[in-house]
Amino acid sequence: MKIILLGPPGAGKGTQAKLISDEYSIPHISTGDIFRKNISEKTPLGIEAKGYMDNGQLVPDDVTIRIVEDRLSMDDCKIGFLLDGFPRTTKQAEALDSFLNSNGQKIDTALLIDVPREFILERMTGRRVCPTCGASYHIKFNPSKNEGKCDACGSSLIQRKDDTEETVKERLDVYDNQTQPLIQYFDNQNKLSRVDGTGDIKEVFQDISNVLGAV
Ligand code: AP5
Ligand code: MG
Ligand code: ZN
Repeated sequence: MKIILLGPPGAGKGTQAKLISDEYSIPHISTGDIFRKNISEKTPLGIEAKGYMDNGQLVPDDVTIRIVEDRLSMDDCKIGFLLDGFPRTTKQAEALDSFLNSNGQKIDTALLIDVPREFILERMTGRRVCPTCGASYHIKFNPSKNEGKCDACGSSLIQRKDDTEETVKERLDVYDNQTQPLIQYFDNQNKLSRVDGTGDIKEVFQDISNVLGAV
C-alpha cells in the first residue's frame, strides 16, 4: 500500500499514521519528524529547517524533495509507505509523481483527513509530545496515564515550539495557500479519498480502515 496523508496541521495525520503503519506494516515517513530529529541533532539540515519551522513557514521544496526521495529509495519502502506531511506544495507533488513514475511505482490513494479550522487550535495547543520516542498526546483528548510523562518511555512530555496560537494561525494560512490546492490535484488524478476527521481517534481510524479496505 502506498498512501499519502493530507490534511491541515492538527488534523490527526501523525496520530492516524502510527495506527495505519502498524496495521499495514508499512513505514511511516513524516517530513516534520525528519526535520525535528535533525534539529535535535543540530545537523546542517536541522539548522536550515529550524528557522522556517519556528515561524510556521515551509522548508524550501528542493531540500524537502531530496530528503523524501532519499528515504523512498530505501529498501523498506519497496512494499509500500505512508507519507505524512509530504507533498505540501504542487511542486513537491509533481516531483513525487515523476520520482515514482521513473521507478515504475504509483500511489494507491491520497487520503484527506478533513477537519475544519475551528477544531484545530484546541488540538494543537493541547498537544504534548515525547522528545525521546516521538509519541504524541493531548491533554484532553488523548492524555498520558501519568500526567506529563510518556506512557511508552517515561520521559517528560514537552510542547512543540510551533504549537503556539500565533504560529498555528500562520501554519493554517500556509496550508490554505500552498497545500489545499493538492486536494484538487489528487482529485484530478482520481486518487483522492476523504474521511471526516472530527470524530474521536478510534472513530477516525475505523473510517480510514474502511476507505483503505476499498482502495
Ligand atoms: P508537521 O510536523 O508535518 O506538522 P503539520 O502538518 O503542521 O501537522 P501536525 O504534525 O501539527 O499535526 P498532525 O496532523 O500530525 O496532528 P496530530 O496527529 O499530531 O510539519 C511541521 C513543520 O515542518 C511545517 O510547518 C514545515 O515548516 C515543516 N515541514 C514538514 N513537512 C514539510 C514539507 N513537506 N515541505 C516543507 N516544509 C515541511 O494531532 C494533533 C493533536 O490532536 C494531538 O495532540 C493529538 O493527540 C490530537 N488528536 C489527534 N486526532 C484527534 C481526534 N480525532 N480527536 C481529538 N484529538 C485528536
Ligand atoms: Mg504530525
Ligand atoms: Zn516516549
